[in-house]
Amino acid sequence: MKNTYFLDSMRAQEKWRVEDSINLLPSENMTSPQARALLSSDFVNRYTLPINAEYAGEFLENSYRGTRITTDVELKAEELAREVFKSKFACVQPLSGHIAAMITIISTTKKNDLMCAIASENGGYDGYGPAYIPDIFGLRAGTLPFDADNFNLDTQVAADQIRKQKPRLVILGASLILFPYDMAPIREACSRSGTTLVYDGSHVLGLIAGGEFQKPLKEGAEILYGSTHKSFFGPQGGLIVTNSKEHDAAIRKNLTWRIVDNVHWNRVASLGQALLEMKRFGPQYAKQVIRNSQRLGRELKDRGFPIMFEDLGFSRSHQLLMDVKELKAIYGLGINDFSIRMEKSNLIIDSGGRLGTAEITRLGFKEKDLPALADLFIEAAKGKNVKSQVKAMRDRFDMAFRLR
Ligand SMILES: Cc1ncc(COP(=O)(O)O)c(C=O)c1O
Repeated sequence: MKNTYFLDSMRAQEKWRVEDSINLLPSENMTSPQARALLSSDFVNRYTLPINAEYAGEFLENSYRGTRITTDVELKAEELAREVFKSKFACVQPLSGHIAAMITIISTTKKNDLMCAIASENGGYDGYGPAYIPDIFGLRAGTLPFDADNFNLDTQVAADQIRKQKPRLVILGASLILFPYDMAPIREACSRSGTTLVYDGSHVLGLIAGGEFQKPLKEGAEILYGSTHKSFFGPQGGLIVTNSKEHDAAIRKNLTWRIVDNVHWNRVASLGQALLEMKRFGPQYAKQVIRNSQRLGRELKDRGFPIMFEDLGFSRSHQLLMDVKELKAIYGLGINDFSIRMEKSNLIIDSGGRLGTAEITRLGFKEKDLPALADLFIEAAKGKNVKSQVKAMRDRFDMAFRLR
C-alpha cells in the first residue's frame, strides 16, 4: 500500500463529500473549522481518568498527571451543555448516541424490566429492538402504539398501554422523526405507573438546543440524550442531560469502567466548541432548518415529487419523508436504486426514504435557495447527471452559524 494511501483518501473524501456534493442525509452535518481543528489537536493523544470516577466506593483523584487543561475542558463543555439545554446536570462522556442510550438505559432499569420504544418499522431506532440493547442488558423490549396517518405516537392508546403494562422505561424519539410528540398524556401515564420517561433526541438535538421542535425536559422527560452530530452540528459523539440529581448520580456510576473508559478528549473539546456555537446561533439555526424542510417539501411536491404529509406541513424537523411506493411508480426504481442514482449526481441521500436539511442549513441555504435545489433534485431523479450544476451550487455556500 502507498505510504500516502490514507492521506490521499482524506483528500479524495474532502473533495467529494465537502467540495463537490450536497448532503441531504439527516444523520449528518458539518462541524466548524474550529471544531475540526480540535479533533486533530493534542487532545487526541491524551488520557485522563474521567473526573467523578469511583473506585471501590471511594472518589478517585485523577491518576494521570498533565491533565489540568483536559479536566477544565470537560467541566466547561458540561457547563455549556447545561446552559444550552437548560438542564441542571450534563454529561459529555458518551462516545456516541448509542453509548448515551446504553448509559441511560442501564442507569434506569434492572434485569428483566420492560422497556418500550417506537418500533423500527415506524422509524424507531433499531438499537432498541429485542436483539440489541435490551438483549445485552437482559431487558424485555416492547413497542409503543403508532399512528401511521399522522406519523406520530398514537398518544392515548400509548398512555393506556403504559398504565396497563407499567414498563420500567419508556423511550421517546426516533431515527425517522417528523413531528413532535404530545408528551403530556405520556408523562401522566408514566408518573402514575412508576415508569421512567426518557427522550432519545439523537436526531433532533440541534433543534432542541435551539429551542425548537419540542422541549423534552420541560414536557416531562426525566433524561434527554442523543448524538451530537446529526441536527446538532458537533463532532460524532453523544451527551446526556437531566434535571434529576438521582438520575445524574446513577449515570455517573455507569461511566468509568462500565460503559466507558477513555472518552476521547479531542471529541469533548470539539463538542465544547460546537456547544459554544450552538449557544450563540442555536435559535436562528434551528428555525432555519425547519423552514428549509418545509420549503423543500413544498418545492419538491409542487414539481410532482412524492413527499409525504403535505397536509401536516410536511415536517417540523430536519427531515422529510418520500413516499417510496409512489417513487417506484414515477421513476421505476426502488429507494435503494434511487439513492444510488442520486449519488451519481453527488446529491447524497439514504435508502430509508428520508431527506435531511440540517447540513444544507449549516452551509447557509435559506428558503430562497430551495427552488433551484429542487430543480436539480428532480433532474437527477429523472436520471440526468447534474454533477456539475450541483458543484456550482455547492460553491456558492461556505458555512453559516460560525464564530469568527
Ligand atoms: C434515534 C437514534 N438513537 C440513537 C442512535 C445512535 O447514535 P450514534 O450513531 O451516534 O451511536 C441513532 C443513530 O442513527 C438514532 O437515530
